[in-house]
Amino acid sequence: MNINVEITLYPLTKDDLIPSERKKLIEFLMYCYNEPLETFDLTHPESNHIILAKTGDRIIGISCSYVRNMSINSVYFIAAQVGAVAVHPDFRGSHLVTKMIGLLHALFKKEGVNASFLFAYEPKYYISSGYKMLNNPMRFYDRKSNTWKQFVWHNSMYREFGNFELPSGLIEFKGEVF
Ligand SMILES: CC(C)(COP(=O)(O)OP(=O)(O)OC[C@H]1O[C@@H](n2cnc3c(N)ncnc32)[C@H](O)[C@@H]1OP(=O)(O)O)[C@@H](O)C(=O)NCCC(=O)NCCS
Repeated sequence: MNINVEITLYPLTKDDLIPSERKKLIEFLMYCYNEPLETFDLTHPESNHIILAKTGDRIIGISCSYVRNMSINSVYFIAAQVGAVAVHPDFRGSHLVTKMIGLLHALFKKEGVNASFLFAYEPKYYISSGYKMLNNPMRFYDRKSNTWKQFVWHNSMYREFGNFELPSGLIEFKGEVF
């Protein structure tokens, strides 16, 4: 962990990304996750924010969000998903993920997002950002099998904004999980 460097957060949208920068970000994500290219889609039509953390020109963190309308029974709400979250191994343990997600949350509040979801490898990193374990079943589009699936997703988490309270019941996710 290097705490003696200045870290700046840059909020972008997918339209701000030039192809060479997009390639650098995908490479950064593949390095941090040790996963193949097709896992990450930074230019998906539902992509709304990309937060980059940099020290100088060096990318050291990323956090992305995607947004769409969802419903539970007759309750319709604006839902965000936080995905493609990574911090370079040299900078882990210095609250960077909390800062990036905090910036996403500030943008969500301005945009009237009611609830945000994320699918964690390790939930412990997101509890201090206000996320709780999600026990609702969800119906979502599975990109790998090209089918709709329905189940309670292990390690899925949610956070509400404003006065919104996520009802119990099946979440019609209305698309894929990021
Ligand atoms: C997951 C990842 C982004 C976390 O990054 P990080 O910025 O180093 O996270 P931190 O260690 O600063 O921890 C984030 C928060 O979790 C908290 N935390 C960490 N371990 C904890 C524990 N055991 N119990 C409770 N809280 C814990 C920290 O205190 C911190 O909260 P705070 O900022 O409010 O103090 C990083 O490990 C990573 O890039 N991993 C590889 C890619 C990956 O797995 N991405 C996520 C997929 S869901």
